[in-house]
Amino acid sequence: MNIDELRNRIESEITSLKTFEDVKKVKASLLGRKGLFSEYLDGLKLLDRDEKKIFGKEINLLKMHAESRLKELESFYLEEEKRKKEALDKIDITMPGKIPLLGKKHPITQTLEEIIRIFTSLGFSVAEGPDIEQEYYNFEALNIPKDHPARDMQDTFYIKSDIVLRTHTSPVQIRTMESQLPPVKIIAPGSVYRCDNDISHTPMFHQVEGLMVDKRVRFSDLKGILSIFIREIFGENTPLRFRPSYFPFTEPSAEVDIGCVICEGDGCRVCKETGWLEILGSGMVHPQVLRIVGYDPEEVSGFAFGMGVERIAMLKFGIDDIRQFYYNDIRFLSQF
Ligand code: PHE
Repeated sequence: MNIDELRNRIESEITSLKTFEDVKKVKASLLGRKGLFSEYLDGLKLLDRDEKKIFGKEINLLKMHAESRLKELESFYLEEEKRKKEALDKIDITMPGKIPLLGKKHPITQTLEEIIRIFTSLGFSVAEGPDIEQEYYNFEALNIPKDHPARDMQDTFYIKSDIVLRTHTSPVQIRTMESQLPPVKIIAPGSVYRCDNDISHTPMFHQVEGLMVDKRVRFSDLKGILSIFIREIFGENTPLRFRPSYFPFTEPSAEVDIGCVICEGDGCRVCKETGWLEILGSGMVHPQVLRIVGYDPEEVSGFAFGMGVERIAMLKFGIDDIRQFYYNDIRFLSQF
């Protein structure tokens, strides 16, 4: 039995290892059940008693030596791995910080808030109504009969046979007048829904309704209020005109146009060469509507208007595709 050979092999194996993994491998190959030491200890069987004693002692001494060296190395490499890991985890406080993206208000919210600010400064208060609305408030009470084209299934999202997603904010007129006596002076901002989707229509958009009812409210009051509003929101020198129109719930009715903000009246693609842009519908509250809510049209009169918020935002910010508002692309939204 060659103890020197055993000693040399142990030395060379142990000195060649470099990692924690190596230690584990060498430990198995030396001290494991089928390892080098077992082999040598098995070999003792072939020797006589005296030799067994001498070699047995030598082998055991070498084994203890190998065990303690491997144990040392094991904890050394374990420590080293821990240190490496800690170094990786350590925060470098000299690195430049990550600047968080700051959020801001959506352009529609900005526009809505500006519209609300202007009207509240003129003494209007803010009223609200449900988005999911009874057909009655959305149509009938507004003097829109069953056969009116706006009742068509293509334009209106029906939830049930008599429940719709409101197609305009005008039902808030009815709900407000039902719940209070004149004088009424409200605006009603909110979402509205129509079964439409293209460059100038999204299935959901926003309107701000306006309603003023009192003794002796006249068309000139409507004109005055809307003129102030338009100059506030589009600038002092914005031309505007009232154009006769028709709504079932107002009489007379008028649409309000402003001078095209793109071409300033010369005619362009946006204003369809007319020099004018339609921005809202309005009129004197129809006597039939006043009667429906229990007001006396001989006693009180009123005006109402409704405007599309997206339309106003598009003109204010120069946006040509309404759908941009709802893609939620941060590159688009962060510009406003
Ligand atoms: N509700 C009408 C629409 O959505 C707008 C409007 C409101 C017209 C109030 C007149 C009076 O088109």
